[in-house]
Amino acid sequence: MRSFHNLLVTGGAGFIGSNFIRYVFGQTGYDGRIINLDALTYAGNPASLDDIAQAVGGRYVFVHGDIRDTALLADVFERYAVDAVCHFAAESHVDRSILAPDDFVQTNVVGTCNLLQAARARGDKLTLFHHISTDEVFGSLGPDGFFSETTPYCPHSPYSASKAASDHFVRAFHDTYGLPVTLTNCSNNYGPYQFPEKLIPLMILNALEGKPLPVYGQGLNVRDWLYVEDHCSAIWTVMTQAAVGSTYCIGGRSELPNIEVVRRICALVDRLAPPLPGGQARETLITHVPDRPGHDARYAIDCSRLEQDFGWKQTVDAAAGFEKTVRWYLEHSAWIETVRSGEYRSWLERNYAHR
Ligand code: NAD
Ligand code: TYD
Repeated sequence: MRSFHNLLVTGGAGFIGSNFIRYVFGQTGYDGRIINLDALTYAGNPASLDDIAQAVGGRYVFVHGDIRDTALLADVFERYAVDAVCHFAAESHVDRSILAPDDFVQTNVVGTCNLLQAARARGDKLTLFHHISTDEVFGSLGPDGFFSETTPYCPHSPYSASKAASDHFVRAFHDTYGLPVTLTNCSNNYGPYQFPEKLIPLMILNALEGKPLPVYGQGLNVRDWLYVEDHCSAIWTVMTQAAVGSTYCIGGRSELPNIEVVRRICALVDRLAPPLPGGQARETLITHVPDRPGHDARYAIDCSRLEQDFGWKQTVDAAAGFEKTVRWYLEHSAWIETVRSGEYRSWLERNYAHR
């Protein structure tokens, strides 16, 4: 088992990063320090970890900083004697990448290169650089088959192209400089603390408030839904056990067309939240809107390498995970109000009149 003492987590104020920090402190027995470096874009909210910061004291450090800032990175790696990195920080939303690709290049590609350079400067004091990527780098599947570790890259959106470029740089730093890297490519995550621009939290909140539920095209595109805590356990497994230079695919084995996801969310919100005026069923709020350009038809992951090598398994299926997630959003209105204020709201109003 590989161990670390000063783990730098980038993007730890975002959705998966904050769940990961919560998971590592709460469920792995890790006794070192985590340094959470986050620029706090619209998607970052440090308050997501207030309870963890209180519980672990000095073992959690938050640094407000940007991976595009090379001087800051050099300082952070030295100051905190960083010996491992788990790199989540990214611009993560496909729709935003279609409207404004520049930030995706700057953060996802240039920022990742900066981080690789800073990690490399630590020499043999660096034990591991773990890079978080997506199944979207593989492109789109037809009705059959699965993505696996050997699937060729074929990204379609500016987001997935930027993530593909970052993956290539991570592997290049291993092959060229011997940087000890591992990579994971995962399917669509959902769960607590996900910013409400992504499908599941957006639908929960709109359904709750009786607003239209915008489904792109016919809603027949398929995603493989992965509960975020299962993703975190898989990342930790790879970070602590996988061979340097290796890649693993992580999936939920829960393929669903978008329209089915939205219908299930509607049914859950109808069951768990106060009714809409006149008892209107939430499903009637579904509104088909023009499709996303370049919309990938189907993603699905074969994660048998991860299962066979380490005995990892998903513990939460879509039925249980969707219900846990709806309940979480119903119980966390203060968090929702915070993340929906300011820049997020104005961006949505500028770009998505139909919401
Ligand atoms: P998110 O958008 O919720 O969070 C991203 C975090 O990164 C935010 O806290 C933001 O403030 C921070 N950040 C952005 N730019 C930064 C910069 N220049 N410097 C420092 N911090 C910066 O994203 P997420 O959904 O938690 O995704 C995390 C990672 O997982 C990303 O790399 C994403 O590509 C990958 N991923 C996500 C999913 C998913 O379903 N959400 C699926 C596969 C892979
Ligand atoms: P999203 O959560 O943006 O994740 P990704 O694009 O990375 O897969 O979208 C998931 C699916 O839901 C995708 O096929 C697009 C679709 N979608 C809608 O139909 N309506 C929406 O409002 C959003 C945000 C997504």
